[in-house]
Amino acid sequence: MTLYLGDTAPDFTTDTTIGEISFHEWAGDSWVVFFSHPADFTPVCTTELGRVAQLQEEWHKRGVKPIALSVDSRADHDRWQPDIEAFNDTTVNYPIIADPDKSVAELYDMIHPNEGDTSSVRSVFVIDPAKKIRLSITYPKSVGRNFDEILRAIDALQTTDRADCATPVDWRLGEKIIVPPTVSTDDARKRFDDVTEYYPYLRTATLRD
Ligand code: BEZ
Repeated sequence: MTLYLGDTAPDFTTDTTIGEISFHEWAGDSWVVFFSHPADFTPVCTTELGRVAQLQEEWHKRGVKPIALSVDSRADHDRWQPDIEAFNDTTVNYPIIADPDKSVAELYDMIHPNEGDTSSVRSVFVIDPAKKIRLSITYPKSVGRNFDEILRAIDALQTTDRADCATPVDWRLGEKIIVPPTVSTDDARKRFDDVTEYYPYLRTATLRD
């Protein structure tokens, strides 16, 4: 199923390493990072799932729940998890979906026929508390992701929601934002501090607290 930004994230009920969950109910009022990986007992995935666990405090600060998926069984996930924890010196305290029949992977279009076998690629979906898909990224199986970038993008999504603004390249929390083209410079000066007009279409500003 092709999913577009702004679509409602499809709901499903599935077995995971924390037991059976219904996705929307489990997500509750949180943001969600739903990410797939190709297979258990593989090296890149072992580093990625460990990194997501190490970032637990960062997800928590932003009201985000991570959840992983591969098309392996719950028994495999349970046998693999101690390796992830030992190698990355961490505790995996988020669920890993068991999807041996590929039903959830197919629902989220995580299997890409040109990427080797029929396992899931490295998809990432950021889903907001209204269950809307707000960001998606797809990496090939051979390339591990940068979860600091996912955190940065979530900061940008949450900031642009709060302040009705945009964010420039490589933006980080606390840096100047971009005034959206739909807002006049006069209105921008009422809403933001330090409005600077470089061109009529490129204006930066500082957010008020
Ligand atoms: C890995 O996680 O190391 C991996 C999985 C599938 C293909 C290539 C690498």
